[in-house]
Amino acid sequence: MEDGSNTARLSDQTVVVVGGSAGIGLETARYARAAAAELNVQHTEIVDADDPDALLRLFGNISAPIDHVMVTAGSPHYGPPLDMAPEDARRGFAGHLMLALNVVRCATAKMRPLGSITFMGGTGGRRPRPGFSIVSTATMALPTLIANLAIEVSPVRINLIAAGFVDTPLSARLLGSDLERRREELRATNLIRRVVIPSDVAALAIHLMTNDALTGATFDIDGGQQLVT
Ligand SMILES: NC(=O)c1ccc[n+]([C@@H]2O[C@H](COP(=O)([O-])OP(=O)(O)OC[C@H]3O[C@@H](n4cnc5c(N)ncnc54)[C@H](OP(=O)(O)O)[C@@H]3O)[C@@H](O)[C@H]2O)c1
Repeated sequence: MEDGSNTARLSDQTVVVVGGSAGIGLETARYARAAAAELNVQHTEIVDADDPDALLRLFGNISAPIDHVMVTAGSPHYGPPLDMAPEDARRGFAGHLMLALNVVRCATAKMRPLGSITFMGGTGGRRPRPGFSIVSTATMALPTLIANLAIEVSPVRINLIAAGFVDTPLSARLLGSDLERRREELRATNLIRRVVIPSDVAALAIHLMTNDALTGATFDIDGGQQLVT
């Protein structure tokens, strides 16, 4: 999507992207015209979003009011759950959930009414499969947390994007030499006959920011992938 009416509506607003240096977050930041030097970035900071104190400092350094927050930090935990070190398993179960809770805790007091916080989840973990115990459980818990948090912080809005395969650096890292084969497979099987790319997700993220009827909900974006695999 080029610079359309939704991005124009964000032009005077403060949009914070946590995880904006790559992939979906970078593309959303581009769309929101708020996160890189060539795009009039106002402030960038390197933080570990899994560290609650670092998050507190990050939001503490941003001048209120904040209009929108997009969180793309975090990555899924795959692997045989019974062989996984307990600490890794705990991080896998709790990582995304605690990240969401901590961001909402740090950001909400600084946000405008009807401002939005958007998180990333997935569709791939919905069906139990070997090696998916942890990612699957976290995937299923996240929409429930988002809906409940939306009640807690109303009139600030909270939504979740659930993506299938998106062609990002994360996907490249996870798939390694299997990446091109997976792209080909998805081009053949996805209902849209192409793979989903970061700008597809960014367009949805911008819509969630600008349409203030949307809160407490999970929005799938996977080109029909979950219907055919
Ligand atoms: N790609 C997919 O197919 C897909 C599908 C469903 C859901 N998702 C979810 O969507 C989100 C974004 O995915 P992506 O594919 O765009 O990932 P990506 O290409 O790896 O980009 C993730 C971004 O988040 C940052 N980040 C990661 N962990 C962080 C942390 N603890 N603290 C601060 N920044 C952190 C990364 O910075 P550094 O590189 O500096 O760490 C990078 O800028 C993730 O939560 C992912 O699980 C992705």
